[in-house]
Formats: sequence, structure tokens, C-alpha cells
Amino acid sequence: TTQSPTQIRRMLPADMVERGRCPFDPPSGVRERRDQGAVQPLTLLNGAPTWLVSGLPEARAILADPRFSSDRMRYPDVTTLQPHEVERLAAAAGSGPSAGGIAPKVESRTDGMFVFMDPPEHTRLRRLLTGQFTVRRMKALETRLREIAVEHIEAMMAAGTEADLVPAYALPIPSLAICELLGVDYADRAEFQERTAIALNSTTPEQERVQAGLGLYGFIQGLVTAKRAEPGDDILYGLIHDTDPPLTDAQLTDVALLLLGAGHETTANMLGLGTFALLEHPDQLAALRADPALMDNAIEELLRYLSIIQMGVSRVAIEDVTVDGVRIPAGGTVIIATPEANRDPRQWEDPDRFDVHRPRSTHLAFGHGIHQCLGQQLARSEMRVGLSELITRMPDLRLAVPADQVPLRNEMLIFGVHSLPVTWS
Ligand code: HEM
Repeated sequence: TTQSPTQIRRMLPADMVERGRCPFDPPSGVRERRDQGAVQPLTLLNGAPTWLVSGLPEARAILADPRFSSDRMRYPDVTTLQPHEVERLAAAAGSGPSAGGIAPKVESRTDGMFVFMDPPEHTRLRRLLTGQFTVRRMKALETRLREIAVEHIEAMMAAGTEADLVPAYALPIPSLAICELLGVDYADRAEFQERTAIALNSTTPEQERVQAGLGLYGFIQGLVTAKRAEPGDDILYGLIHDTDPPLTDAQLTDVALLLLGAGHETTANMLGLGTFALLEHPDQLAALRADPALMDNAIEELLRYLSIIQMGVSRVAIEDVTVDGVRIPAGGTVIIATPEANRDPRQWEDPDRFDVHRPRSTHLAFGHGIHQCLGQQLARSEMRVGLSELITRMPDLRLAVPADQVPLRNEMLIFGVHSLPVTWS
């Protein structure tokens, strides 16, 4: 029943999905629409009206505005509407101020997917979680991440002079980071990684994915039960024991699954695509190797330049709102094009250029407002460790195939590379 942002992507016209000559630039159709205005009506392939937001200040204004909801239970999914609902929505979009384009559906809920909740439910769960992301815990995790990165690089080098960097490096790092965070036993990690890989891989057939998802749910439920019994030093244990009133098992399982879902494919794709971008910009890579102190800057620039969440951040207006002179009626869905907003020429000079020296400035790669990425410090740590160990320990790392043969995740909600064949001597 939750709205899947992946479905929004399937409903977009082809010119908003396929990339052009440069694999790192957003699809041309998004740029053409942005040139018409930062907020533009956009009809999905099923006829449903939505609003495309592709300017930075406009996107930030919407994401900070409580008149836009994240609640995927109350508001129906624009990609799966019945034809009469599409008609109703379209009529509301065209008329004057409306009392509501579409009736909210109200369902009771006890789970913990707070990314799809509004205050006050969101506030409580988010606060509980931020309380667990302590500086001490993140420091300890960074030390473990470095060990994990080095182990995987050594394994790649011991096995030969070629590898696919995605399964060999980019995927295991975030997966093992989540294991550390949730306190998954070493003995269970292979099972955990296998189930996660299948459940989160959007190219596996639906049936198989659902099966693996159920398996993963069962695995996490088991983990929650175990944490209730044994002392530990992980986030899940902390959430069980530091929380008053206590969270239910269903909430804990959902929170753990949310961390896993939000933190796995995202970071993996930043590592895979980030490495590809660095290899394709040898001058920038050389500058980074020459001055490791540039790394934090380079990471912010990679986040901005690559903006891997393609059209994934969306909201529903709960009343009529006018943004940039465009009226969005109650019930209207806005789709925030973060990759395009992160190339806003009003904010960045020559925004299509990748430049690790660029001064840091506000970007939207982690979203904005109350839902801004909760794992961003962890994600930065994973990128810092993952990329710096890779470029220093493999000084002659290069692509093993021509750049135009690297398979891109065009159709996926989270952009990146399906595989990255690399070589070294
Ligand atoms: C939310 C991006 C890594 C956990 C978000 C949002 C974005 C985002 C854009 C906002 C969604 C919205 O407003 O609807 C990214 C990117 C990552 C990354 C680009 C990697 C480079 C992580 C990691 C974790 C994580 C490593 C956790 C371990 C979360 C959670 C939320 C979130 C829990 C929901 C926060 C809320 O609703 O209050 N992320 N993320 N993310 N992210 Fe991340």
C-alpha cells in the first residue's frame, strides 16, 4: 500500500528517463522542462497530473513547508489511481481553489516507516533514532569501516588484476556498515547480505523479491527478539532499552528495515558511480590524490554532481499552495527533481562541471527539511573511507571496458552503475 517512488519513475516520459551523451548529466527532458520554469505541471503516462520541481530554492521551500505531506498511507499513489480518480484529480488541477482534489484514505497504522509519516508520528520516531546516532558510535564505526574497506581491496588484489567493483566493493561496504549498526552476528552476515542483495535489487523478478523481502523481515524480527534477551552496544539494542514508552516489535522491525533500505543501495551507488566519475575525470582524480585534504570537498561535489536519487523525493499538497506563481491544488503530487535542482545556475557557477575544488554549498542530495537524510554522516563516512582507501591503495585503477559500455541504472529510482569492470596491474 505504500507509494513506491520507483513507480513514479516508470510513469515518466522517456526523455525524462534516458540519459544522453554524458552518463552523469540528468536526462535532457528534465532540463528542457526546467528551462520553462522551476515548477511545471507534468502529466504522468497514466494521465495523472503532477508538478515537477527542478529549481533549488523552490524545492527547498516545498520540503520545508508543512502544507506538503510525506504520508503515503493517507494520500493515494498517483501511479496506481483508477481512471475516475485520475479524472477527478485532473479536474481539480484545472479549476480554481479547491477543497481537495482527492479524498485522503485513512488507515490505522502501527509500523515504523517514518520516512512516510508526518509530524507528530514522524517526530517521535526520528528523535529516537537520532539519539542513537551518537558521535561515539559513528567514530567506532568509521574504524571498522576502514578495516572492512582494506579487507575487500586486499581480497580483490589477491584474486587477480580485474574485478567488478560493484559486488566486490561498493555493495559490501554499506551492507557491513548496517550489520555493525544493527548488531548482526558475524555468523549471520552472509545470510543477511544475500537476502538484502536479492530484496533490494530492483532488477530481480517481483516474485523472488517479495520472497526475499519476507525472508529479510523474518530475519530482522529474529534479530529484534534476540536483542531483547542479550545485552549489546548497537542501535537496535539502544532503541529497545532507551525508549519510553517502548517501541513494539513491529515498529523496531520497520525501523531496522528502513535503515537497511535507505542506507544500502544509496551508498553503494555513490561508491560505484563516484568511482566511475573520478576515473572519467582524471584531472580531478589527480588533484584528489595529490591533496587528500580535498576529500571532504570532493564528496560534497560528488553528492551534488551525481544526485543519485532520481525523482525519488515527492510530496502531496494537503491544501492549495502557490509556488513560483504556479498553483498546486490540494491532493496534488509534487516530484522534486533533485539532480536538476542540484545543477541550478542561480546557485552554482557552471553547474554541469565536476570540480572537486568547488566551494561547498547547500545541495539537495540528502533532501531538506524534517526528513533530511538521517544517515548522512554515516554515508559521508562510508564514502570518505571507501573512496580514499580505493584511490590510495590502487594507484593505477582504471576502467576495464570503454566508458560507454558501463551499464547505467537509467530506469532505477537510485541512479548508478549495474556493474563497474575495473583493472589494475
Ligand atoms: C532520508 C538520500 C544514505 C537513512 C533520505 C532522503 C534523501 C536521502 C534524499 C530524504 C527523503 C525524503 O525527503 O522523502 C540519501 C543518500 C545517501 C543516503 C543520497 C547516500 C549517499 C543513508 C544511510 C542511511 C540513511 C547510510 C542510514 C543508515 C535515511 C533515513 C531517512 C533518509 C532513515 C528518512 C529520514 C526521515 O524521514 O526523517 N536519504 N541517503 N540514508 N535516509 Fe538517506
